[in-house]
Amino acid sequence: MAGSDTGRGAGKPNVLFLLPPGWDALSKALFGHEAFNSFLEGKDHYAPQQIDYFVGFRPPHGFLKGLPKLKAIFSLGAGVDGFLRDPEFPRHLPVVRFVDETLQREMAQYVTMHVLTVHRMQRQFDAAQKESVWKQRMLARPSREVRVGILGMGDIGAVTAERLMMFDFQVFGWSRTKKDVPGVTSYAGPQELPEFLSHCDFLVCMLPLTPETEGILNARLLSGLPKGAWLINVGRGGHGNEADILAALDSGQLGGAVLDVFQTEPLPAESPFWTHPKVTVTPHIAGITDPRNASAFVVDCVTRAETGTPFKNVVDLNRGY
Ligand code: NDP
Ligand code: OXD
Repeated sequence: MAGSDTGRGAGKPNVLFLLPPGWDALSKALFGHEAFNSFLEGKDHYAPQQIDYFVGFRPPHGFLKGLPKLKAIFSLGAGVDGFLRDPEFPRHLPVVRFVDETLQREMAQYVTMHVLTVHRMQRQFDAAQKESVWKQRMLARPSREVRVGILGMGDIGAVTAERLMMFDFQVFGWSRTKKDVPGVTSYAGPQELPEFLSHCDFLVCMLPLTPETEGILNARLLSGLPKGAWLINVGRGGHGNEADILAALDSGQLGGAVLDVFQTEPLPAESPFWTHPKVTVTPHIAGITDPRNASAFVVDCVTRAETGTPFKNVVDLNRGY
């Protein structure tokens, strides 16, 4: 009930968190924290005009505008599109994003697992096992001859490149600015995108969703890949033109796709991706925020804000990431 809660920990900062369903472990870790008054939207009383800090991932559009004294926003995801796409987003506020080694490693693990699964033809062996068929096959080529291109060589892209190179894959990276990552051939900007794409037997999207990257996985881009390349999208569903991806799968331009993120999440039951023989669908789990680390992140952010210490990993609102 707005306005009814005035008696808690006077002098302590008021932190409101709005968590996606299933984030109970994080609410437990944060709720009732000693260092601040914590409010869980919908389950606890809070006065919007008293909220100092907001913690969340994808608040409903217009929600933050209703918190007039807000001083900063702490994103529980590495990606902040869930905030910045709100047309009424309070752009004068600092947004701090979750940059976490565990999350980066999980993302790298997911990509490496799927590249290896395709490379080692595990899908074919799984199908053969269902038929009790013993059929040995040779790998088409060793992994040192297989090229993996990463769209978005940021915090997650860099760890992923490292992990892929441990398995001998050739790694190519594309970002806005050129990178100097040992072993990775780096490309930057729209001019170098066609050359980058021509090297990708696997294309992995790890970009943030911004006005510049929205819809980037479209027919034009896909036609620049070697025929039969695989697409792995762990960025955002908004990067993909889903009709173009389906057409590229059906024409054979794409050999297959591993999709963790979709235009609409949860993926609607009628989506053709669910049953497409060349598609692996996962429910946005490539990297899941660990509640313990997220809790430490929130405490660190609040402490910094309250002691006037600069935040780490502040989002550049003009770039959108
Ligand atoms: P970073 O901000 O560290 O990296 C973003 C990278 O994308 C940078 O290399 C940046 O280039 C590049 N980039 C941004 N815009 C462009 C552009 N217009 N053209 C070319 N390159 C561009 O982000 P993270 O690595 O931490 O996270 C990446 C994304 O992964 C998140 O935004 C989120 O969408 C997604 N994600 C998905 C998860 C899942 O479970 N599926 C979990 C976690 C994250 P430059 O370095 O030159 O600035
Ligand atoms: C993130 C995510 O951005 O989980 O961290 O998608």
